[in-house]
Amino acid sequence: MPAIVVWLLLAILALAAGASPAHRKLSPRSMSLGLERNPGYARDGPGQYLRALKKWGVEIPNGFSNLTSIRGDVGDITASSFNHDREFLSRVGFGTPFQYMNVDLDTGSADVWVYTSETKAVDRGGRAVWVIENSTTAKRVPGADWKIEYGDESTANGNVYIDNIDVGGFTVKDAVVESAVEVSPLLTSDPYLGGIFGLAYGHRSQVYPHQPAVWRTMMQQLDKQVFTTDFKWHGDDGAFTFGYIDESRHIDEIKYTPLKPGAIFWSFNFTGIHIVGQNLWYLSQWEVIADTGTSLMLLSPDVVNTYYSAVPAARFEDSTWVFPCNSSPLPDFEIGLANGWVGRVPGRYINYTSLQDDPKTCMGGLQPIDHPFGILGAVFLKSVYAVYDVAGSRIGFAHKNLDI
Ligand SMILES: *[C@@H]1O[C@H](CO)[C@@H](O)[C@H](O)[C@H]1NC(C)=O
Ligand SMILES: *[C@@H]1O[C@H](CO)[C@@H](O)[C@H](O)[C@H]1NC(C)=O
Ligand SMILES: *[C@@H]1O[C@H](CO)[C@@H](O)[C@H](O)[C@H]1NC(C)=O
Ligand SMILES: *[C@@H]1O[C@H](CO)[C@@H](O)[C@H](O)[C@H]1NC(C)=O
Repeated sequence: MPAIVVWLLLAILALAAGASPAHRKLSPRSMSLGLERNPGYARDGPGQYLRALKKWGVEIPNGFSNLTSIRGDVGDITASSFNHDREFLSRVGFGTPFQYMNVDLDTGSADVWVYTSETKAVDRGGRAVWVIENSTTAKRVPGADWKIEYGDESTANGNVYIDNIDVGGFTVKDAVVESAVEVSPLLTSDPYLGGIFGLAYGHRSQVYPHQPAVWRTMMQQLDKQVFTTDFKWHGDDGAFTFGYIDESRHIDEIKYTPLKPGAIFWSFNFTGIHIVGQNLWYLSQWEVIADTGTSLMLLSPDVVNTYYSAVPAARFEDSTWVFPCNSSPLPDFEIGLANGWVGRVPGRYINYTSLQDDPKTCMGGLQPIDHPFGILGAVFLKSVYAVYDVAGSRIGFAHKNLDI
């Protein structure tokens, strides 16, 4: 399966939640977009892990289904688990006047697509859609269409428009918006999701003939070709900022790392890990990507095994690291970069969730992935202030006050 069709699956499948974030207009050419957690959201840890493996085209380990609460074939994604998989959505306006949709801002994909008045009624269901005819500025791109094929072979496709978008009070002009005509049932089963807003570095969208990706168009219109993420652990005041760095969101210097040459994702290397309090250091080179569309932190099995070797009660069961919920607190996990920056993920962030089937057993937010690169999802991103520097082809991290 081409990777290009696989990653968007997780974009959709990843994190989740209710919407109506607070907008804050800071200057005419930069903005921040709130991220809110859905208070009614129940975690399905194994489901998250399964989706991440599927998104990145990784073979599902044997026995995995024993642990997951998803019934039947592990390739099936049930309707209910979709809702539980989505944690953060942001509100973005489309057309003139703006019609607001809840979209998933995803650094692991590059397309911007939404449900619209063109979406087949059966796929649209009861959700709000972008009514294209109501926009006085929507222009169909003649002869262009888009199609995405997911890891489970479900598809979404449709037509292509140029129109204005409102992101946190900033108007992106002439954005290429993909209107969904057909969307597979596996995707439509998430009633909260109005679309996906891809922010993958250097990746092309699935529009043919090719059109500029929206995030590229947006970056060209901003003061500064940069965006940042500040995800919060168990908090509602996380944010994306576009066009500026919010100095109030970090407490020390931002240290930058160049992206991998030719990167299509936000890919870079880290060079060491440390288990805090254990005097365990492990130095090597590992390629990873920063992915807002994945909830877990997925690293190579050697790194993950090193971490859990420091958690006495942890066990690798059904291809997943778990531990008794009543065991002593997990150690903090540090990741070092070649530029000298060291990030620390608090152990409590790695206590990801208790299992739905077995509430006394907790699942780790750090899990192995047998893949050419690791995935730094929200478990990691919650512990840092991250700066995605498009113009500089680099990613920067700084420390921030955690849990406030
Ligand atoms: C997992 O389930 C399979 C059958 O579905 C069974 O053969 C295997 O023993 C189970 N593994 C564990 C660890 O329970
Ligand atoms: C679209 O326009 C119609 C007719 O003016 C109006 O009734 C409807 O509320 C509009 N819908 C949206 C979502 O703007
Ligand atoms: C990054 O790490 C990979 C191993 O995962 C290595 O092959 C590659 O050379 C490293 N790249 C740089 C720029 O150090
Ligand atoms: C993990 O988190 C749960 C709450 O979700 C808590 O009850 C439990 O004590 C925690 N366990 C550890 C080892 O931190």
